[in-house]
Amino acid sequence: MPLDIVVGAQWGDEGKGRMVDLFAGKASIVARFSGGDNAGHTVTVGDQIFKLHLVPSGLARPHTLGILGNGVVVNPATLLHEIDTLRQGGVTVNPDRLKISPAAHLITPAHRALDAAQEASRGQASLGTTLRGIGPAYMDKTARQGIRAAEMLDEEAFADRVSAHVEAANRLLTGIYGTEPLDASRVASEYLDYSRQLKPYIGDTVGLVAEALQSEKTVLAEGAQGTLLDLDHGTYPFVTSSNPTAAGALIGLGVGPRWVREVIGVAKAFQTRVGEGGFPTELDGEMAIRLRGTGENPWDEFGTTTGRARRVGWLDLVLLRYAVRVNGLTHLTLTKLDILSGIKTLKLCVAYERDGRSSPDLALGTYEMGHYRPVYEDLPGWEQDIQDARVWNDLPPQAQQYVRRIEALAGVKVGWISVGPERDQMVQLVSVE
Ligand code: IMP
Repeated sequence: MPLDIVVGAQWGDEGKGRMVDLFAGKASIVARFSGGDNAGHTVTVGDQIFKLHLVPSGLARPHTLGILGNGVVVNPATLLHEIDTLRQGGVTVNPDRLKISPAAHLITPAHRALDAAQEASRGQASLGTTLRGIGPAYMDKTARQGIRAAEMLDEEAFADRVSAHVEAANRLLTGIYGTEPLDASRVASEYLDYSRQLKPYIGDTVGLVAEALQSEKTVLAEGAQGTLLDLDHGTYPFVTSSNPTAAGALIGLGVGPRWVREVIGVAKAFQTRVGEGGFPTELDGEMAIRLRGTGENPWDEFGTTTGRARRVGWLDLVLLRYAVRVNGLTHLTLTKLDILSGIKTLKLCVAYERDGRSSPDLALGTYEMGHYRPVYEDLPGWEQDIQDARVWNDLPPQAQQYVRRIEALAGVKVGWISVGPERDQMVQLVSVE
């Protein structure tokens, strides 16, 4: 019966794919519920590595049904490309294994062009979006003029709709932003072609999820981005245009709260952020390079979607405690603890100071994040490599102390700790049912 939800507890890129992979082993459905191809996840199947942005990573497991829920914005070109890539890698992807909600909205080249034009027009105040057209697609959705996946079922009307949508966007692109218009008939025929290929994948995702839950099967909601990028609960305006928090899973899949069992928040053992916006614990200099890596390894802190170097800093417990609250987390997963090995003194941000007053809690939206000064607590680091740790007692006492302190400050138990990039490099404190 249960719905388990995996969400990012920071600004995205926490390593959610790892947890989804672990949980997907017991799930019959793995469903994306928000965002689009702005996300990036790495999926390992046997000895093959796939870099994906849109399809649920659980599809790598042969027994799961992947769902793109109504809360997702779907770029058909990306989706078809990923289906192709997975197939070439020997993964079976067909309409029996992947379903798109008829209510999911489509991203078009007009949305991408508007994203780029809006970012350029913001100048210094740009948000640092992924330029995937996410914001404009959700704008069309809330303006009740978006194109939904169901519209692909009626070919003739669909081509006209896409053409009219591009022409409307062209008026904005040329009239407001002074950029080049798109070729509406070319986009329409491209989308007609996509619709022919994607039609068989459109299905009653709400019904499929309900049936699975009623027949005691596990459904896994796979979060994208992270809590602090949530449109309502994140560090607005430097957020994405959807709700990647736990409640977003309910809206984005069409399921009620009574089915929820676990809400697992994934957080790195330190803090990272891509794009603009305040970051109280941000580091530069040697420690930043130490935490970020140089980009030589796939797990270094460079974006999967954009390749941008991520900003890095000490773990921020004010923000983590906030993420525990807004998601109602039942457990926390701590990733990349191994990266901290060899650092003599570790710092945890336990409060924010402003105007001589310090507070352990954040009333988000009260002030721009950049105005807070972090208050740190120092903890001793550990020297030894911990990549071979598999059980709690394999971790050095200082690493155990670091984890226990996080639990105490965040107010939630840590269930899993990742200590290396490989699937099995994990200290599992809670078993997965
Ligand atoms: P958008 O979602 O492309 O509109 O970008 C809005 C903000 O969210 C920017 O700061 C992006 O860098 C950030 N963002 C969007 N998706 C991700 C993600 O998957 N990981 C990390 N940051 C993201």
